[in-house]
Amino acid sequence: MTTLVTGGAGYIGAHVVRLLQQRGEDVVVVDDLSTGDASRIGGATLVELDLAACDAVDALTGVMTKHGVDAVVHFAARKQVGESVARPAWYYQQNVGGMANLLTAMENAGVDRLVFSSSAATYGQPDVELVDEKMAGHAINPYGETKVVGEWLGRAAGVAWGLRFVALRYFNVAGAGWPELGDPAVLNLVPMVLDRLERGERPKIFGDDYPTPDGTCIRDYIHVLDLAKAHLAALDYLDHDERHHDAFNVGTGTGSSVREVIDEIGRASGIDTTPDIEPRRPGDPALLVGSPVLIERTLGWKAEAGLPEIISSAWEAWQAGPRRIDD
Ligand SMILES: NC(=O)c1ccc[n+]([C@@H]2O[C@H](COP(=O)([O-])OP(=O)(O)OC[C@H]3O[C@@H](n4cnc5c(N)ncnc54)[C@H](O)[C@@H]3O)[C@@H](O)[C@H]2O)c1
Repeated sequence: MTTLVTGGAGYIGAHVVRLLQQRGEDVVVVDDLSTGDASRIGGATLVELDLAACDAVDALTGVMTKHGVDAVVHFAARKQVGESVARPAWYYQQNVGGMANLLTAMENAGVDRLVFSSSAATYGQPDVELVDEKMAGHAINPYGETKVVGEWLGRAAGVAWGLRFVALRYFNVAGAGWPELGDPAVLNLVPMVLDRLERGERPKIFGDDYPTPDGTCIRDYIHVLDLAKAHLAALDYLDHDERHHDAFNVGTGTGSSVREVIDEIGRASGIDTTPDIEPRRPGDPALLVGSPVLIERTLGWKAEAGLPEIISSAWEAWQAGPRRIDD
């Protein structure tokens, strides 16, 4: 079995590459290394190319044919909401254009299995306690829109030429399965807090007057290793002849508040994490927690790690990296 992992040198992709290698599969990584790092992919074959480039279809078709690829896991994308608001056309070109090139190459090469990195950003700001899969399609920024369109494209390819397709909608990913595979970007809450602590600054909370028990926003945190395991379950599901669902939340069904996360970082690190309170940011829903019922029932996947394991693994990975925080 040979699996092609686009974006396999990135944060989440590298975890899936390692799990696939551990179960004895051959892995080919396609990555332009724009945010990825070649040292994260172990012994996988690396093909350095930009999926969204004009000549990517022929190159990708060649890679799939040469390596006898059976299935694809597609992570490669731009993922910064603010940047997507500033550069919408580029986000569509990168994320939707990249997906279109990939699908064309898969059809050309006769590769008919795809797991796609989607996002809770497809839900926008749902006014519910628990989000279920039927509520998608209400993205509120170009990044989320590219994920909605990516799902549409995957489904349309299923109708057109029989692609077996699953979209996994990730909630708030954090932690590290191995210390050397921590999140290198400072875009999500946990690395943002660690980044501030490393600079000797206090963490920031944007808004403590939301209608939640402690006034701060609640999100569904998922350990990156649990998330990576969901991809293997999704790949296995694509082998089933009867598939009644093609989009799954990857969450835990339990939320943690920003304040709880910051407190947990304080416990794991032994550092005072008393935060500064800033005004709310526009576009932040008070609550975003995913129902895991469908993925548990259909793929037999369930998150194992809770917030303490997520944060302690993120702390360990941060300390193994170049910006270790000393007392
Ligand atoms: N990290 C999260 O919290 C989160 C949440 C929801 C969804 N996602 C999605 O998961 C996927 C992976 O996210 P991540 O956190 O691992 O990000 P990442 O930036 O660490 O990884 C993305 C990888 O894709 C590569 N890449 C980007 N554009 C490319 C292109 N045009 N051609 C070839 N390679 C390209 C990068 O070099 C990098 O290795 C993305 O699709 C992202 O939208 C992430």
